[in-house]
Amino acid sequence: MATKALVVFLAFLVGSLAVPAPDQSVLFEHVDINARIVGGSPAAQGSVPYMVALTQGTVVRSLVCGGSILTPRTVLTAAHCIAAVFSWGSLSSSLRGVVGTNSFGSGGTQYAFARNVTHANYVSQTIKNDIGLLITTTDIEYSEVVQPIKQAFDFAPAGVVSRAAGWGRIAAGGAISQNLLELHPETIDGDVCVTQVATIGPSLGFRPPPVEPHIEICTFHSAGRGMCNGDSGSALVRVDRGEQIGIVSWGIPCARGAPDMFVRVSAYESWLEQNTV
Ligand SMILES: *[C@@H]1O[C@H](CO)[C@@H](O)[C@H](O)[C@H]1NC(C)=O
Repeated sequence: MATKALVVFLAFLVGSLAVPAPDQSVLFEHVDINARIVGGSPAAQGSVPYMVALTQGTVVRSLVCGGSILTPRTVLTAAHCIAAVFSWGSLSSSLRGVVGTNSFGSGGTQYAFARNVTHANYVSQTIKNDIGLLITTTDIEYSEVVQPIKQAFDFAPAGVVSRAAGWGRIAAGGAISQNLLELHPETIDGDVCVTQVATIGPSLGFRPPPVEPHIEICTFHSAGRGMCNGDSGSALVRVDRGEQIGIVSWGIPCARGAPDMFVRVSAYESWLEQNTV
């Protein structure tokens, strides 16, 4: 059980920091204006048309995770995001995918989900095969600001300039961002990542699971810039081609000088082909 608690702590899910969530609206007003995604900058309106905010709650929409549009019926996200909204054999009835807005709490269009397809070999303890699909009940209507994203099925090497957008916390234990933020980290070499996570993690008091470069991509920007809780499930897109190469999965929270880990989309080509609706 100790292992499980530790790992849940490392997934970039909104609720996964052991620190109790402070009053977000209050904190948001008081955070350093330069401290985004962590260390990101606001995404231009409509510039991330494949972005999905997974939210739940009827009166107030609370952020669960990010996701990306693959087809009018299929949203790609992290398996641990789906697990967080699944209980008693079904998805949370208030779960919605919000598209076409940079603000998950207002505007855009909401879609409900009929079912999920989670990778059968998803391992929550080590956050492996952290990939899943949510199938909408009705077709997502495309527009200038709502579009699918193409997946890259060749192996993304080190040094690929990428773009990640999300509404995740702007500091560990800090506020969720109401507005979509983006960061342009670079992919790093798999072996370097394995070593860095295994050394930096323990030095910060974490015992992270091993990185598996054949199914995971690591990125690094700089200390003070990186993914944080709430960014899980969001797409990592290579800037040169505009294709998705990763899904935000886990890391040493947040932006403390260690790489961030993403599901390597290219490792799941046949799974995606079989399960995309
Ligand atoms: C849906 O997600 C739940 C929670 O992770 C999982 O137990 C279940 O197997 C998933 N269903 C499918 C069809 O993948």
